[in-house]
Amino acid sequence: MERQQHKKLVLIGFMGTGKSTVSKLLTEKLGWKRVDGDEEIERLENKRISDIFAADGEAGFRVIETQMLETILTNEESCVLATGGGAVLSAYNRDLMLNHGLVVALKASPEQIIARVKTDSARPLLHGDAAERVHQLLEQRKHAYDFAHISIDTTDLSAEEVVEAILAQWSLEQ
Ligand code: S3P
Repeated sequence: MERQQHKKLVLIGFMGTGKSTVSKLLTEKLGWKRVDGDEEIERLENKRISDIFAADGEAGFRVIETQMLETILTNEESCVLATGGGAVLSAYNRDLMLNHGLVVALKASPEQIIARVKTDSARPLLHGDAAERVHQLLEQRKHAYDFAHISIDTTDLSAEEVVEAILAQWSLEQ
């Protein structure tokens, strides 16, 4: 498998697993374009994610998310795409990712996820008791990220080390 064959790297993972940070470092290394799925949705809709959830519910958000994924993943340009944590819930989205890119799952311990997300109010699914919501959603999604080509536990790694691990595993895939 040539690197060129995978012209897109798709980062998946639960909220707070470091997808955005890692995608920034990866694009610097690869010289590829970076697309943050949530930022792209906010740009296209001209609304914040939390306002989309408030107006259209999670179901409405998921429709927009699938449209965005389809647009980004079916164009020709190489990119690193950081997806939202729930983008993997639809089989259609999973197929899109697998068919158009190398799918990399970032994992982290519940404690680390909670530490990373608890001060951020931008995630509508974590409103209320963030720690409890993280545990509930992690349980619901415990196998949701298993379909990835590559999986990295980021708990004890710096963002730089995660990037090195991705690039090393990617070479092994070739
Ligand atoms: C979601 C994760 C968020 C965002 C939305 C829903 C989810 O993205 O897409 O709030 O369902 O896990 P991040 O994983 O970037 O926080």
